[in-house]
Amino acid sequence: MKLNQKNLSDILIRELRMTDYDKLIALWNKAKLLYKPEGRDRQDNIERELKKPTAIFLVAEKNEELIGSIFGTHDGRKGWINRLAVAPGYRKQGIAAKLVKEVENRLFDMGIGIIACLIEDWNTESMEVFEKMGYKQHNDITYYTKRRFVDV
Ligand SMILES: CC(C)(COP(=O)(O)OP(=O)(O)OC[C@H]1O[C@@H](n2cnc3c(N)ncnc32)[C@H](O)[C@@H]1OP(=O)(O)O)[C@@H](O)C(=O)NCCC(=O)NCCS
Repeated sequence: MKLNQKNLSDILIRELRMTDYDKLIALWNKAKLLYKPEGRDRQDNIERELKKPTAIFLVAEKNEELIGSIFGTHDGRKGWINRLAVAPGYRKQGIAAKLVKEVENRLFDMGIGIIACLIEDWNTESMEVFEKMGYKQHNDITYYTKRRFVDV
């Protein structure tokens, strides 16, 4: 067992329920995860996303405390990992890796062979985490978007 790694058997990985919404937002605030409270991450938008067959929105729970989240999805060609966060007191124990592995397995089962994630250029910690989980950085690609609204 690695240094700092605790037994994860008491961590429950389960589907997000809409009743978790307030706890989810509290987790993202604690984790300092950037999210879109007036756009994609507004309660009704998440509720709509959850109904899609491509949505893999999971949380990690310990003693009924919500301590981790991940939103996996795919567009038919590529899988995407979004909203990965672990509460500060529970980091470096393998919880993110467990959430990512679960999403990867489900995406592979859906026939998706490539999984991507977007990381802000200042978030070098997260880059290291993804590299340790086997993800490769592409410096030859620039992200372009067109937005219907500023906060979408
Ligand atoms: C990124 C984050 C989700 C990682 O969660 P975590 O549960 O601590 O990660 P894990 O314990 O599963 O670690 C996975 C691997 O990354 C490594 N790692 C974890 N935190 C790290 C850090 N800050 N710097 C470098 N490596 C790190 C672990 O050692 C492990 O590698 P190993 O298996 O080779 O030992 C967490 O730090 C977080 O919530 N950050 C703020 C939100 C955020 O930036 N999310 C990502 C948006 S793209």
